Amino acid sequence: ANHYYLEKQRFLLEILHRVHEPLLQEQWLGLGQQIVSDQSQYVHYNEHMEQFYAQLSAGRLLARDVYYDGQQPEHCQQYVGLFHFFYNTREWSTLRQNICWARVNANPVLFLHALLQTLMKRDDYRALVVPKIYELLPAPYHHEQLLHTALRFNQANLQPSQALLPLNLPSELRNTSQWRAAMSEVQLLSIDAGLTPLTEDPGWRAYWYYINMATTLLQEPQDTARLREWCYWQLSQLVARYQLEQLEQRVPGRRSAARTWLLQRYGQQQSVGVEQQLRSWEQRVETALATHSCRLANGSHVELSRGQNWQLGLAELFPYDLSQLRVASAVASPQQLLDPHTMLRDVNFYALAARVLRLYRAYRAAFQPDYAQPVLPTEMRLVAVQASALVTYDEPVDVDISSLLPGSQFYADKRFQWPLTLQVRRLRLQQRPFNLTFQLQSNRTQSIVLRSFLTTASGTGPYYQLDAFLTVLQPGHNTLSRASVDFAGTVGDHLSYTELYHYVRLAERQQFDFPLNITTPSCGFPRRLLLPRGGSQRPLAMRLFVVATPYQFKARQAQEVSCDFSSGVSSWDALPFGYPFERQLEAPSELSGDNASWQEVAIVHER
Ligand SMILES: *[C@@H]1O[C@H](CO)[C@@H](O)[C@H](O)[C@H]1NC(C)=O
Ligand SMILES: *[C@@H]1O[C@H](CO)[C@@H](O)[C@H](O)[C@H]1NC(C)=O
Ligand SMILES: *[C@@H]1O[C@H](CO)[C@@H](O)[C@H](O)[C@H]1NC(C)=O
Ligand SMILES: *[C@@H]1O[C@H](CO)[C@@H](O)[C@H](O)[C@H]1NC(C)=O
Ligand SMILES: *[C@@H]1O[C@H](CO)[C@@H](O)[C@H](O)[C@H]1NC(C)=O
Ligand SMILES: *[C@@H]1O[C@H](CO)[C@@H](O)[C@H](O)[C@H]1NC(C)=O
Repeated sequence: ANHYYLEKQRFLLEILHRVHEPLLQEQWLGLGQQIVSDQSQYVHYNEHMEQFYAQLSAGRLLARDVYYDGQQPEHCQQYVGLFHFFYNTREWSTLRQNICWARVNANPVLFLHALLQTLMKRDDYRALVVPKIYELLPAPYHHEQLLHTALRFNQANLQPSQALLPLNLPSELRNTSQWRAAMSEVQLLSIDAGLTPLTEDPGWRAYWYYINMATTLLQEPQDTARLREWCYWQLSQLVARYQLEQLEQRVPGRRSAARTWLLQRYGQQQSVGVEQQLRSWEQRVETALATHSCRLANGSHVELSRGQNWQLGLAELFPYDLSQLRVASAVASPQQLLDPHTMLRDVNFYALAARVLRLYRAYRAAFQPDYAQPVLPTEMRLVAVQASALVTYDEPVDVDISSLLPGSQFYADKRFQWPLTLQVRRLRLQQRPFNLTFQLQSNRTQSIVLRSFLTTASGTGPYYQLDAFLTVLQPGHNTLSRASVDFAGTVGDHLSYTELYHYVRLAERQQFDFPLNITTPSCGFPRRLLLPRGGSQRPLAMRLFVVATPYQFKARQAQEVSCDFSSGVSSWDALPFGYPFERQLEAPSELSGDNASWQEVAIVHER
């Protein structure tokens, strides 16, 4: 990494530090006086920017201390405007000035969304490592009580700590002499937060935040039909995974509906508006299912069973941003259910999403034509599937909430410094690496795709897809093995905000060769959450379901795990995402035959 890179990287980490509080650094305050208004500095100067600039000139920008609500058209409009003021810049110096301006003048959450969007979508800045959303904006991701402890900052209540967990990060970035050099002058403080249920897990909730960010504001979206399908599949994966987690509920210390700072500030709302909105949407879909016709936004009616009309109806009735759940007119105060950071902690979310998915599958079952490719492999048989021991456990991990510490800790003579770090030590769900082994018979050389799902002991769903992969079978008997660390779309752990900053400083002093390959893709699913919590008294009984389909050379490798949807989404073939569960299945026989295999498995939770 050269010094241009390091300079950008450090600027980013400093400007985002304590983003919810006013900026204190003189250097950037000076640069933040004006937004760049010279239109020649932008690749495009579009109507979103004109509108934003008009609002800015009229003094009508969203105030800093107002709750940013993406449902409100005015809020959203300003967010899109600011995004273009970042995204369309030609030079780094213009972008940097606009970032400084927005950091000083814009609503902090609006600013953060617009900047993260830019860094996700501009491929020239994708090498920059951005701290995770729960480090940048810790408040909605942690318990109220814990936040108060951090905000009061009484060192006597905080435990000194020697190390950050887990020690074994990828690329050996912790537990090394370089780590000790980088962190030598940093005081480590820790708060114990105990066990983290799935709905409170920052990684689980941030995943949803990121994929929602990444799939919106696309500049020239390719193949939106496929993207919609992908989004509904992600939603069904989250709901299925949540439901499987509910099977083993006897977890000590599980707290229900704990309130966060965010909720305390804004009050917990009943989702009355959402319920009404969803009901009227359900009625529209039920009507379409009953009459086989649908009225499009432009007023014309289409016969859904004719030609490709079912796709028009799908686009009309199933928006991929889930606006069925959105309340059109602004409600007085924010709702946990509608905030992208807190949505997945609300148990109502899963129930509402399950209703959306039920109709989605019913619609597809009713109108989806035959698959564009054969689904039955010939001259082969899936003989058996085995899983190695499936073991979950609670693993201590530190989550950086240094952003909540008082600003006075971070300045000496108005110069930024970072002398201490505050970490929440949580016990989170983790699993031992495991393998799936497949036994197959084939009478010829052929390529197939194998999809593996986890489901309840009864085999009746929900179906959670663990993995899908392409393989070549040889004539005769084939034994294939797939390791959980290789499962597609999953990611491991990452460096904390504090460590990242100090590694950059170390590299600036030329004592460290800053690696350019340490970004943990934000749109990757946390690998440690693949398996639901096992049984601790007796093993949790589940079933694996595996299905084979022929492969026809249509694989697509995109970059959605790094939140880059500009070239679409990855897929092995032309089958719908989540196949065969993208639609309601009619007969149980669809899940048996030479192409499928079931295996009873059990998950044990280790103490
Ligand atoms: C930390 O480093 C020491 C010395 O290199 C090594 O023995 C130990 O296994 C490492 N611990 C982890 C958890 O990686
Ligand atoms: C990053 O690159 C270094 C040096 O080439 C390599 O040792 C390391 O394994 C890489 N890390 C990752 C996560 O790819
Ligand atoms: C409405 O939109 C559909 C699909 O784009 C199109 O086929 C149809 O012609 C449009 N109807 C009118 C009245 O514009
Ligand atoms: C392979 O061929 C043999 C002989 O024709 C046949 O008995 C067997 O069923 C075939 N196996 C598969 C998996 O198609
Ligand atoms: C998984 O398979 C790999 C390679 O065959 C093996 O080294 C590893 O020990 C296996 N892991 C488990 C948990 O069985
Ligand atoms: C598996 O094959 C059977 C016929 O043996 C077929 O009825 C079923 O639809 C297939 N299942 C899937 C999921 O492709």
